[in-house]
Amino acid sequence: MRIDVMTLFPGMFPGVFGESIIKRASEKGLLDIQLTNIRDYARNKHDNVDDSPYGGGPGMVLMCQPIFDAVEAVCSQGQTVDEIVLLTPQGRPLDQQLAQELSQKKRIMLIAGHYEGFDERIRTNLATMEVSVGDYILSGGEIAAMVVVDAVTRLIPGVLGDEQSNVDESFSENLLEYPHYTRPADFRGLHVPDVLLSGNHAMIDQWRREQAHKRTQERRPDIRPGNMNNNETR
Ligand SMILES: C[S@@+](CC[C@H](N)C(=O)[O-])C[C@H]1O[C@@H](n2cnc3c(N)ncnc32)[C@H](O)[C@@H]1O
Repeated sequence: MRIDVMTLFPGMFPGVFGESIIKRASEKGLLDIQLTNIRDYARNKHDNVDDSPYGGGPGMVLMCQPIFDAVEAVCSQGQTVDEIVLLTPQGRPLDQQLAQELSQKKRIMLIAGHYEGFDERIRTNLATMEVSVGDYILSGGEIAAMVVVDAVTRLIPGVLGDEQSNVDESFSENLLEYPHYTRPADFRGLHVPDVLLSGNHAMIDQWRREQAHKRTQERRPDIRPGNMNNNETR
């Protein structure tokens, strides 16, 4: 999968993309991340990419020209871009379902905003979708882009060593995951539940299922357990 990230701050990414699962996915050739500095496409004397808003008001707005030019130039290289994603707090909330959908694309592009955000014509005439990483305001779309890349990368077949890890994980079946324990069995008098030490795998599976349902009900009653691709039938 190829992911293009369009940003004004490419220096923010190498740390996150150069470690752990994203690094391994890139090394295995399963992920190709390309960073583009939007400012490289500015066409004025001071390389400005933003201007004050029509109608007045605080802050600066990202201009159409550098972003349209950058996106068009990058899209013209290589395979077709399946989705041009604008990162914005007004977008579709990122969840496991959306990460799953994006992980099935061959190539996506993420556009990180800054300042007051984008000129509206970027949203209406360039982006194919808008994604939010939560109901709060970040200073820029870079961290949001990292979140999307991370959530999507884990779902690319072959990226995680043990494919089961995606199946068990929270949200994979609209259920929060059951609790985990590791050695020692007794830490300062805090004991691991007996069932996990029993060696009886049927009982362990049953306990984990019950715990997952209990947790989901207690913490996220808004989630309806079941297959996340098929909520309506459950
Ligand atoms: C300071 S924010 C602009 C917020 C904008 N004025 C608004 O109220 O919708 C600057 C940029 O950060 C990114 N951003 C901020 N919060 C985000 C969120 N929750 N999800 C995705 N991107 C976000 C977007 O790219 C946005 O253009």
